[in-house]
Amino acid sequence: MANIIQPLQHFTKFESLELGNQLIEQALAYKANPALDQAKGAGKRIGCIFLNPSLRTRVSTQLAALNLGMEPIVLNMDKEGWALEMQDGAVMNRGTVEHIKDAAAVLGSYFDILAIRAFPSLTNKEEDMSDFTFSQFVKYSGVPVVSLESATRHPLQSLADQITIRENWSGKKKPKVVLTWGPHIKAIPHAVANSFAEWTLGMDHDLTITHPVGYELDEAFTKGATIEYNQSKALEDADFVYVKNWSSFNDYGKILSTDASWMLTENHFENAKNAKVMHCLPVRRNLELSDEILDGPRSLVQVQAKNRVFAAQAAISHLLGNK
Ligand code: CP
Repeated sequence: MANIIQPLQHFTKFESLELGNQLIEQALAYKANPALDQAKGAGKRIGCIFLNPSLRTRVSTQLAALNLGMEPIVLNMDKEGWALEMQDGAVMNRGTVEHIKDAAAVLGSYFDILAIRAFPSLTNKEEDMSDFTFSQFVKYSGVPVVSLESATRHPLQSLADQITIRENWSGKKKPKVVLTWGPHIKAIPHAVANSFAEWTLGMDHDLTITHPVGYELDEAFTKGATIEYNQSKALEDADFVYVKNWSSFNDYGKILSTDASWMLTENHFENAKNAKVMHCLPVRRNLELSDEILDGPRSLVQVQAKNRVFAAQAAISHLLGNK
């Protein structure tokens, strides 16, 4: 008997193989016919609240909502909203102007669904690991919430990545997926890497993670993956290679290496001739990933970016079905 999939209240993380498959199939149906459920969101509004910059997430989420007949409204809260106080019980006699308790409740009364982007500080590990800012929106808004990237996860990106793998894999065996660290000059959050590992393992793929010593991700997201510190060995027989930078998790938020030899070029694919390369974008060309890979036949980055629309459409549609 097929498992009954419980409808989600919020879309914030990987839930189950069954739901993952359902969302991927729904997203592919929307890709074939974006107007398939044009009436589903009629008369409803989604508030897309950004506390950090975005190109893909901002536009793809709006397009997804419009495809469902919903009205999206974007608020760049970091630039256009009042400075928010996040701490419960705070005496607000400093820089913050409005408490999250009030702001989130107001937004919840305006919208049927809220979508929130809230990056980590990379300075307060405990607070970041609890997804504190994002969780305050969930706690006080009282409506379903979609994560547009929290401190720990980026589920719409990960769903788009899994859709991309599904579309590009016809082999009988499980695909070998490699998540490789790439160099960067800034301290980058762990959310994309965590989430990619969580969804790839959850969808029952074979995952190898490779990075310099000191860049181990939180085991909560990587349990079941092979950790291989030798990038060349990790890449052997890879079917999909996902490139991402992240800062140290153990030495929280620190840059421990900028070793340029970790940047993938064609020379890295001697033992993985057919491997496809993925990256969530934005990417720093010729630092994190080379032009020859990004502009060559291995690259799936534009497919991933396009699939962000249908990933968001499937996730929002799932929450609408729940209301
Ligand atoms: N991949 C991604 O989330 O892109 P943006 O930061 O531009 O939204």
